[in-house]
Amino acid sequence: MGSVVSLFSAQKETITAVDHVNFDIGQGELVGYLGPNGAGKSTTIKMLTGILVPTSGRVLVDGIDPEKDRRAVARKIGVVFGQKTQLWWDLPVEESFDLLRAVYRIPGAEYKKRLNFFIELLDMKDFLSQQARKLSLGQRMRADLAASLLHRPPILFLDEPTIGLDILTRDIVRKFIKEINEQEKVTILLTTHDIQDIEYLARRLILLDRGRVHYDGGIDDFIQRYAAEKVLSLQVDPPLQSSFFTQRGFEVLSESSDRNFEIRLGADETPAALIEALSASKIRIDEINMRKRDLGDTLKLMYTNQRNVEL
Ligand SMILES: Nc1ncnc2c1ncn2[C@@H]1O[C@H](COP(=O)(O)OP(=O)(O)OP(=O)(O)O)[C@@H](O)[C@H]1O
Ligand SMILES: [Mg+2]
Repeated sequence: MGSVVSLFSAQKETITAVDHVNFDIGQGELVGYLGPNGAGKSTTIKMLTGILVPTSGRVLVDGIDPEKDRRAVARKIGVVFGQKTQLWWDLPVEESFDLLRAVYRIPGAEYKKRLNFFIELLDMKDFLSQQARKLSLGQRMRADLAASLLHRPPILFLDEPTIGLDILTRDIVRKFIKEINEQEKVTILLTTHDIQDIEYLARRLILLDRGRVHYDGGIDDFIQRYAAEKVLSLQVDPPLQSSFFTQRGFEVLSESSDRNFEIRLGADETPAALIEALSASKIRIDEINMRKRDLGDTLKLMYTNQRNVEL
């Protein structure tokens, strides 16, 4: 019944997907654009590419307003949406490329050189004659990356380009992104949920949460700020509820099973109090390991505790 009703009554609800988001990206930068699901990352990229138009505020891509001159912007940018291909679904990959050559009027010799470069770098020769819809996810992503860059745009927007890729393909894609940024000085805005992508690629982070920017700055500064904090990994016996720790004032960062926990330790805390609490309850520690708090931990804290982590 609910679905029938929704067919007939279009109820309108306004969601503020991005709110006072403000940033500038310099030429040649590679910026990680991060935030939890629904934060507004894809919405931002859609506004930058002219797919969506902001209700207020201004977007400029290399000085051009994508709403006013989508064509001019299209020449300046490449886009990859990891969740959705931009290739022609029924065409063999090489024919999609050839269509793009025509659309962007890329000279023949230049096109050939560029394509060969991508085939080599992205290891694409095995599936060039395959229809896009028959490609595996990893093949499709590589083809999409090549397609986005054939016309040598100075700017590239990547929305989750490593989603669902196996370890080896992810490496190929990461190296490719790095190479394009470093060798060709392509300016890149990269959205990903993969911490390693960020650590390997980005020098600057913009963190978005519920439509607002919570941090914009160097990745090294970001990590440095929290490096004094520690993360304690424990394996205990018998199994425990995470409330065992929280009731005693410890913050649980993760719980991979009822015996494996990661606990956050402040800059001047030692594990002594925790070990005492466990031994007082006759709980054995099978494994214990301490490490510095890293980018992944910090993001996790930000996403779960929501907003009481100071950034
Ligand atoms: N076409 C749409 N119609 C209505 N609401 C939308 C639409 N697209 C996005 N939203 C909403 O806008 C908010 C931001 O979505 P967006 O896709 O930008 O998030 P995201 O940061 O890319 O998240 P994810 O990490 O899950 O991809 C969400 O609340 C989402 O539900
Ligand atoms: Mg998204």
